[in-house]
Amino acid sequence: MEDKENFLFKCKGYNFINSEIDIDFLENLDDFEIRDDDVFIITYPKSGTMWVQQLLSLVYFEEHRKRTANVDTIDLVPFLEYYLPPSDFDKRPSPRLFCSHIPYYLVPRGLKKKKAKIIYVYRNPKDVMCSFFHFSNLMKTLKPSGNMEEFMELFLEGKVMGSLWFDHVRGWYEHKNHFNIQFIMYEDMIKDLRSSILKVCKFLGRELSKEDMDAVVTQATFENMKSDPRANYENALIKRPEIRRTHGHFLRKGTIGDWKNHMTVAQNERFDKIFQKEMKNLPLKFIWDINEE
Ligand code: A3P
Repeated sequence: MEDKENFLFKCKGYNFINSEIDIDFLENLDDFEIRDDDVFIITYPKSGTMWVQQLLSLVYFEEHRKRTANVDTIDLVPFLEYYLPPSDFDKRPSPRLFCSHIPYYLVPRGLKKKKAKIIYVYRNPKDVMCSFFHFSNLMKTLKPSGNMEEFMELFLEGKVMGSLWFDHVRGWYEHKNHFNIQFIMYEDMIKDLRSSILKVCKFLGRELSKEDMDAVVTQATFENMKSDPRANYENALIKRPEIRRTHGHFLRKGTIGDWKNHMTVAQNERFDKIFQKEMKNLPLKFIWDINEE
């Protein structure tokens, strides 16, 4: 169902970007053929998807790590639901890498066989919301938002791409036993990128030499990704017409706690109340401040 006002398309109770989907593909997602060695990054939008896309590209593709090939990160790790036809998914060599924002209940049924691997990346929702606010103004395919108050309403009502953050995170966490899944926190990556990469590599069964690991860590830093034409959505290599180039950058701040620069005291209190109610009894850890351990 189209929600033109909010630039969304609701399919099976979940909001996709209206202009970037193939309805037939979504309708048949359940049957999408999964290979045992497929790897999926799954996130709610603005939780560090591109960061982990870049990480996996560096880990899996030597040409990417050594910069001997010039392929966009989003082509090496394409979006399952936003990769418009003609799709080459069935022709890609194994192991295939994908990323996706879909909720747990929309995944292809083959993912429940527990063989293919899922890395679920989550981030504290206040920073997600602020990042999303700027992103909405950056993308022509999303509804622009005049101010944070307006955007916060949409975010807390789930009237955004990705629907409600609380449902996404809670849903994936509560159904984690149905999948072969590793949870990774954006803030842990900020605080200790190398340890997070080691954790991901261990889960994926990939071993890298020290030299290769150093190359991955270096190329996945915020500064290096910002200047890497393969990984920042905003240069000649990627040519994304849906980006409003005068409205900021995709790699914007890349930190923890930027929400403090955006939310009023009242907005923060309201958010906290909703967070406490919605996330009650969910044993996931969150970090809200760069100085927090
Ligand atoms: P900010 O807008 O807060 O800067 P996604 O890829 O899911 O859309 O997430 C985008 C967010 O991840 C942006 O957050 C972006 O800056 C941040 N990000 C991307 N690469 C990063 C990196 N190497 N280090 C830290 N943050 C990164």
